[in-house]
Amino acid sequence: MMTNQTERDTVSAAEPHRDLFCSDLPSGPLPGMGRVLVTGASGYIGGRLVPELLARGYSVRIMVRAPSPVYQEQWPQVEVVAADALDPTQLRIALHGVDTAFYLIHSLLLGQREFAAADIQAAINFRTAAEENKLNRIIYLGGLGDTQSTLSLHLQSRIQVAEELRKGSVPVTTLRAAIIIGSGSASYEIIQHLVKKLPILVIPRWAKTKCQPIAIRDVIKYLVGTMEIPETAGCSFDIGGNDILSYHEMLNIRAELLGKKRLFIPFFSILPLYSYVGSFVTPVPAPITRSLMEGLKNEVICQNTAIRHYLPFRTLSYREAIIRAMNREEQDQIHTRWSDAYPPAHELALKFHELTGGPRYTGTYSLTTAKEGSALFAAICKIGGKEGWFSNNLLWRMRGAIDKMLLGVGTARGRKSHSSLRINDVIDFWRVEDLQKDRRLLLRAEMKLPGKAWLEFTVRDDRTRRILTISAYYHPEGYLGRVYWFIFLPFHEILFNNLIKQIEARSRD
Ligand SMILES: NC(=O)c1ccc[n+]([C@@H]2O[C@H](COP(=O)([O-])OP(=O)(O)OC[C@H]3O[C@@H](n4cnc5c(N)ncnc54)[C@H](OP(=O)(O)O)[C@@H]3O)[C@@H](O)[C@H]2O)c1
Repeated sequence: MMTNQTERDTVSAAEPHRDLFCSDLPSGPLPGMGRVLVTGASGYIGGRLVPELLARGYSVRIMVRAPSPVYQEQWPQVEVVAADALDPTQLRIALHGVDTAFYLIHSLLLGQREFAAADIQAAINFRTAAEENKLNRIIYLGGLGDTQSTLSLHLQSRIQVAEELRKGSVPVTTLRAAIIIGSGSASYEIIQHLVKKLPILVIPRWAKTKCQPIAIRDVIKYLVGTMEIPETAGCSFDIGGNDILSYHEMLNIRAELLGKKRLFIPFFSILPLYSYVGSFVTPVPAPITRSLMEGLKNEVICQNTAIRHYLPFRTLSYREAIIRAMNREEQDQIHTRWSDAYPPAHELALKFHELTGGPRYTGTYSLTTAKEGSALFAAICKIGGKEGWFSNNLLWRMRGAIDKMLLGVGTARGRKSHSSLRINDVIDFWRVEDLQKDRRLLLRAEMKLPGKAWLEFTVRDDRTRRILTISAYYHPEGYLGRVYWFIFLPFHEILFNNLIKQIEARSRD
């Protein structure tokens, strides 16, 4: 079932126009600058940095662990190199011929036990490869935190990464940020889902801790601006927005902007409870919510603000940053999302065509219609997110709630865009594995399952009519996996028979 690149496509009602964050940056593009490497390009920050660098005329190479045609489609001018920072040989090749590298690697999703060691090792390998390739500079975006206080594991790790990178001969510029506010940011989504979904918010003592959030556009401006000012090489700067607020105040402002009245009740600080509630109510997975919440006890305020001397632009307030994020969501213009970089997912996951011997169980639901193939496919590509699953939404939501209780991703992730769909995009608890315009959409399950599951939608011509098919594929793991398939079989009958009828009904010729 391999698809070649020309068959793969993006289904898009309208390609959103993107405004550039750096258009009013005080610094200008550096003439004669060599190749710029962006690591973590599949991630939230990296994905927003790349188009800005390209727009300023830089020659950009991106480093990803799993290359996909999607990167070339998105940014035709970039050079894509596949490398894992834990593999020194791959890194050496990835850094060959690079002038400046943005270091945006972060393994938070590995969970509390593993991420710190992986991040340190990645930094050591990167420093060595950078020295061997005689890079001129590394620019690292890390986390804020007072090194004199007892920091959370996550914040400690971000600081240790900076220290490891600096041990080499290549000058490192470190930018340290607290939470970043922007559409698609994990912190923003946690705040927004808590406030939207809970009329009463039980808040711990650390909700009074002060923080200096920063808008994503300002982070990107600082990253690009730092590169364009050679004097910033070897320096460390704290970057923050205009406000210093407690987490309680941040939740309050968000509620106010949503037009919702929320009651805040002080309670004991029981971290596991808060992180469980956080990951249950929000689409952000448990390892991320836990690490972020653990850091809430630490004050994260800019101390070293010398960056303002080099890059004197007006940063946004928290309120402005939230309003911009809300506007982007409304206009369906979220460019990157924390869920874009999700290791068990995307190209590293087992693909349907890689399943030896094919799936053990298949359920197929078809109908024949006179509707046009393109209209049927356009309707298929609208599933999930705000639109829901066209019928039986309660059943889909219940499945999502079970997944959340098991600390899975649930359905709250929704979709990045409601008008367009690309390979690797998330649709609730699914991810797009294959997309062949007007013919096939293949989704891979990312919910907690005792096995592997896929959902395939196909449209085929049959003389003057079209055959629309939904196939549910499932490959169980162990006895429990087999039981699972038979428990859910009656629900599949209801869900998929109704879904296929709805797709047909919603297809507009
Ligand atoms: N987002 C925030 O709110 C925030 C706030 C303050 C500071 N920061 C800092 O900003 C930086 C980037 O954060 P982010 O939010 O963009 O993170 P992210 O969305 O989680 O992306 C992390 C990136 O790291 C890559 N990666 C992980 N392990 C790797 C490995 N072994 N080899 C190569 N690549 C690897 C991932 O690539 P794969 O696709 O291969 O997984 C992904 O692209 C981090 O240093 C973070 O501390 C972020």
